[in-house]
Amino acid sequence: MLYQSIAYLKWLPKTFHLHGIHSPFIFNLEKDILRGKNNTKTTQQLATYRASLLASNAEIDVKDFGSGSRVFTSNKRAVKKIAKVAGATHKRALLLERLIAHFKPLKTLELGTSLGIATAALSINNENTVYTIEGCPNTAAIAQQYLDKANITTPKIIVGDFKNELNAFKNEALDFIYFDGNHSKEATLSYVKTLLPSVSEKTVWFFDDIHWSQEMTAAWNIIKKIPEISATIDGFWFGMVFFRSGQEKEDFYIKL
Ligand SMILES: C[S@@+](CC[C@H](N)C(=O)[O-])C[C@H]1O[C@@H](n2cnc3c(N)ncnc32)[C@H](O)[C@@H]1O
Repeated sequence: MLYQSIAYLKWLPKTFHLHGIHSPFIFNLEKDILRGKNNTKTTQQLATYRASLLASNAEIDVKDFGSGSRVFTSNKRAVKKIAKVAGATHKRALLLERLIAHFKPLKTLELGTSLGIATAALSINNENTVYTIEGCPNTAAIAQQYLDKANITTPKIIVGDFKNELNAFKNEALDFIYFDGNHSKEATLSYVKTLLPSVSEKTVWFFDDIHWSQEMTAAWNIIKKIPEISATIDGFWFGMVFFRSGQEKEDFYIKL
C-alpha cells in the first residue's frame, strides 16, 4: 500500500499535459471513450450483475492462484467478499464496456474470470467471441451461474491454469486482451511473451493494476519497451497498449 501511494505521487505530475495530447488517436480515445458515458441500460445491467454477487450469502472453497491475496487468509471465501475485493469495480466495468463498444474486437480474451464482473462488461454489448480463463473451478462455476442468470451468453469460460491454457491462443488473432490474473512480474511477462504472436494492428491490450506492486511497475516498464508496441497509456490503475502502425512510439499518462 505504501508503495502504491508513493508510485501515485510520482505518476500524478506526468498526467499534466501542458500542451495537450498530440496523437489524434489517443486524443479522441481519451475524449470520447475513456471519459465517455455508457448508456443507462448497460450501466444498470452491469450494476445489477455486481449487486447480485454482493448480495450472495454463499461461501466457496477457492483454489488460490496468482501472487497471493492481501485480503484473504483462508481458502474458504464468501462470494460477496470475492466480488468486492477481486472483482472489477463498477467504474472499471463501465470503461471496459465502452472500449469493447468502440473497438468491436472480433476475439477477446480475459485472463482471470473470477466471478465474471469484467466478463459481463466485455460481453454485454458484444456479439463476438469472448474467452475467459479461470483457474479455480468453484469460482468459475459461480461466474457461469451468474452470467446465465443475467442472460449473457457469449463468453466461453475455460477452467485451467493460464500457463497451460494460453498456448491454445498464441496463434489466434486476438483483438482485445484483458490481463487481470496473476499480478506478479514474472507471470505477467511470460503471458505477454506467449500472447505476442496473437497481435495485429488493431489489437488492444488492457492491464489491470499496473502499479499494484513494485514488481508490476517493473513488468509494465518492460512491456512498454516491446518493439511491436506503438503507444501506451498509463492510467495508474490500468495500462493500455496499442500496436497501430503509422504512429510514433509514445507513452501517455492519463488520469481518469
Ligand atoms: C483479480 S481476479 C479477476 C477479476 C475479474 N477479471 C474481474 O474483473 O471481475 C484474478 C483471477 O485470476 C485467477 N488466476 C490467477 N492466476 C491464475 C492462473 N495462473 N491460472 C488461472 N487463473 C488464475 C484467480 O483465481 C482469480 O479468480
